[in-house]
Amino acid sequence: MKTTVAVISDVHFDPSNAASGSARRGAIADILFLRAVHRLNRMIRPDLTLLLGDLVNRGESPEAPADLARIRAIAGLIESPVIAIPGNHDGDPDAFYSAFERPAPFCDVHGIRFVPFVDPEEPGYNARRTPRDIERMAQARAGFAGPIVAVHHAPLFPPGAADCPYNYTNADDVIDAMRAHGISLAIGAHYHAGMAPVYDEGVAFIAAPALCESPFRFLEIVLDGDDMQVHTHALRMPDELALVDTHVHTHLAYCSENMSIPAAMALAQDFGLAGCVFTEHSGHLYFDKETYWAGRFLPDGVDYAGPGRRCRMDEYLDALAAAGCPPENAALEVDCDFRGRPVIRPADRGRFRYLTGAIHQLDALNAPRPGIDAVAAEFMASLDTFIRSGIRVLAHPFRVFRRAGLEPPATLFGPVARLLRDSAVAAEINFHTNEPPPRFVRLCIDLGVGLTLGSDAHNLYEVGEFAPHLALLKACGYDGPLGDILVDPRHAG
Ligand SMILES: [Fe+2]
Ligand SMILES: [Fe+2]
Ligand SMILES: [Fe+2]
Repeated sequence: MKTTVAVISDVHFDPSNAASGSARRGAIADILFLRAVHRLNRMIRPDLTLLLGDLVNRGESPEAPADLARIRAIAGLIESPVIAIPGNHDGDPDAFYSAFERPAPFCDVHGIRFVPFVDPEEPGYNARRTPRDIERMAQARAGFAGPIVAVHHAPLFPPGAADCPYNYTNADDVIDAMRAHGISLAIGAHYHAGMAPVYDEGVAFIAAPALCESPFRFLEIVLDGDDMQVHTHALRMPDELALVDTHVHTHLAYCSENMSIPAAMALAQDFGLAGCVFTEHSGHLYFDKETYWAGRFLPDGVDYAGPGRRCRMDEYLDALAAAGCPPENAALEVDCDFRGRPVIRPADRGRFRYLTGAIHQLDALNAPRPGIDAVAAEFMASLDTFIRSGIRVLAHPFRVFRRAGLEPPATLFGPVARLLRDSAVAAEINFHTNEPPPRFVRLCIDLGVGLTLGSDAHNLYEVGEFAPHLALLKACGYDGPLGDILVDPRHAG
């Protein structure tokens, strides 16, 4: 049976560390950690997650409890069981374990026994295992025949066998005990570069890299009998792909969780993007919250004359300019009214580099029990008009079905892809509260419909998070150059 273990370590969260040019990105570490946690939950779905210490950077300071609480709150979102171990930056282990749950002496998952150690620090950022904990290695084996894995903050390697600057001062004794009791794997961290596995007489030793240093890595270790596969994941996108996030929201979105234009622009660089395009909802800029969410403007669209109108278009463009956002990265996500017309005033059209169109609501969905045929018919009728309205990208093409709890009808994939192709409108791949149908994406590729990648970020952790997008393209069987299928809507048309 395969057991997947995620290892996240050396988060070094420190909100006071914003201005430093240090490789340790403590000030954004909560965002990094949140992004990693969502990656785990969506894509990796581990059987166990190890948090191997230095989760905060200033564990001895008065701010430590608040820092730990922030990291603990994010860790609470992890859907797998978690073992958290303090590192040398986390301060007093008892204080650490007032925030995190203290692990049991042994934690068994799928018949594998994980043994957590909180080892004291030694000079030179090394560590030492106490006689009592060496004894616990023997206890772990008593009456247990399965594989045993030791987990700890400091890295452990046979002296001389690895080019790691840190180790245990009593590494030989610890490794002798591992051999004596059949402990076949030691997982540490602390050394920010990380160390690939070292195999030594049937025992494997590994050090997980630091999440807080670019490219913001963590490990997925798959254990299957005697076999171990180690996959390194990076939160930063590969620079050579030069990916552009064509769909990012701002603080002006009613559904913004923590968006900030300057922060999103900075994160786009940290995450290796070649561009970050802001696309605020036109309906959020033209109508107040209540009018927008009630959909009262949808029958008449931009001509809606009832209460609740406002205009924040200038505010949006001014905020982009004030943040130094280049004009080419100013776009708009235009709502579609019930007649398939884009919700945008004629005077505003020329103010944006391009328009992304989104169908968020359909009149047929207002029925007490919406029938799929009526919804599908209205969707196609709206799209037929909307697609020719000057939009360059169709945002999250079938999400309106999914949000309504309906399966997108596969019979629409062909007609929609052909409409997009004939109108030279790109299809967006968007995972925000969405699962794009792989068959539709494949069809777009086959028909030559351009694709864009949109994070639809409403929370900063989402900016440029394209791991699911890239995995989807792979799952569709596409392994050619991304430049052949992705279009940059800023330069199209
Ligand atoms: Fe450390
Ligand atoms: Fe949208
Ligand atoms: Fe959006």
